[in-house]
Amino acid sequence: MSQPRVFVTRRIPVAGLDRIETECNAEVWQEPLPPPRNLLLEKVVGCDGILTLLTDKIDAELMDAAGPQLKVVSNFAVGYNNIDIDEATKRGIQVGNTPDVLTDATADMAMSLMLSAARRIIESQDYVRQQQWKTWEPLGLIGQDLVGKTIGIVGMGRIGYAAAKRCRGGWDMKVLYSDHFVNEKAETGLGAQRVDFETLLKESDFVSVHTSLDETTKGMFNRAAFELMKPTAVFVNTARGPIHDQGDLYTALNTGQIFSAGLDVTDPEPILPDDPLLTLSNCVIAPHIASATVSSRDGMATIAADNLLAGVLGQPLQCRVTS
Ligand code: DGY
Repeated sequence: MSQPRVFVTRRIPVAGLDRIETECNAEVWQEPLPPPRNLLLEKVVGCDGILTLLTDKIDAELMDAAGPQLKVVSNFAVGYNNIDIDEATKRGIQVGNTPDVLTDATADMAMSLMLSAARRIIESQDYVRQQQWKTWEPLGLIGQDLVGKTIGIVGMGRIGYAAAKRCRGGWDMKVLYSDHFVNEKAETGLGAQRVDFETLLKESDFVSVHTSLDETTKGMFNRAAFELMKPTAVFVNTARGPIHDQGDLYTALNTGQIFSAGLDVTDPEPILPDDPLLTLSNCVIAPHIASATVSSRDGMATIAADNLLAGVLGQPLQCRVTS
C-alpha cells in the first residue's frame, strides 16, 4: 500500500519529524523562511495531509489547490488564526493544534517580559554596555513593584491561568480577568474576579494578554483601551500581535499613558525595521519565542505528528479544532 503523501512546511524537532518521514511519503520544506505562497500552493497538490506553521495561511484557495483528498491540516501551534476553520470543517478536513505542552513555557515568557518591562532590564543592560554606568544611583532606572499589585488577565484559558497562578503565588497579586467564560478553577484557586474589560484596564497594574486572535479581539488594545490604563501600568502580549494596535501602543508608551510594555508578538511579524516601537526604551520585544523551550517544542512536534498521522488515516485527532 502506498504511503500517505504529506507536505511539512518547515523542519520541526525530530521528536515528530522522524515518524512523519518514516510513515509518510513526506516532503519537508528545508528553507529557514516559509515557503512563498505560490510554492506552497504547488507543494500541497495531491497531499493527504499538511503540517503547517502559524506563518502559513491555510484558506479555501489552498484547500482547492491541494485537492479533495486532503484530510488533515496539522498546525504546529496552539493558535490557529492562520487557518480558515469554517472552510476546513465544511470540507470535512480535520484541523489539529498543539495545546498544553507550551502552557508553562508561554506563561514563563509572559512573566519574563513583565519583569523585564517593570524593572527595565533591557534598558539597564544597554546602559551598562554603553558604559553609562558610572556609580550607584539613588534615582537611576527606577521601575515598578510587583508584590501585592493587581494583574489583569485577558483570556483566562490554560495559559492565562498559568500566568495568573505565577502572579498570585509569586507576588501575592490580586487577579482580575476578562473572558466570555467563567473560570471556576481560577476563581476558587486564585481568588480571581471576572470583570468587564474596562474595569480590568482601569484597575490593573499589569495587563497580560492570553486570548486568541479573532474578529472580536483584533485591535482590542487600541487608543481607547490604553487611555483607560494606569500611567504606571505594564502591558504584556504573548498571544498574537494584531490584538494590540501597534501605532496606538507606541503613542501610549511614548506619551506616558502607560509605563512600559513587553511583547513576544508584533503586527506584522517580523516587526518592520522602521516601526517606531523599536526606538522606545520602555518597550521590550522578543521574536515570538514563548514556546521556544526543549520540552515545549518537542511536545508540539509529537502532537503535530500524532495529529497528522491520525488525520491521513481518517482517524480522529488527539487535539482537534472545530468551528
Ligand atoms: C502558538 O503555539 O500559538 C504560539 O504562538 C507559538 O508556539
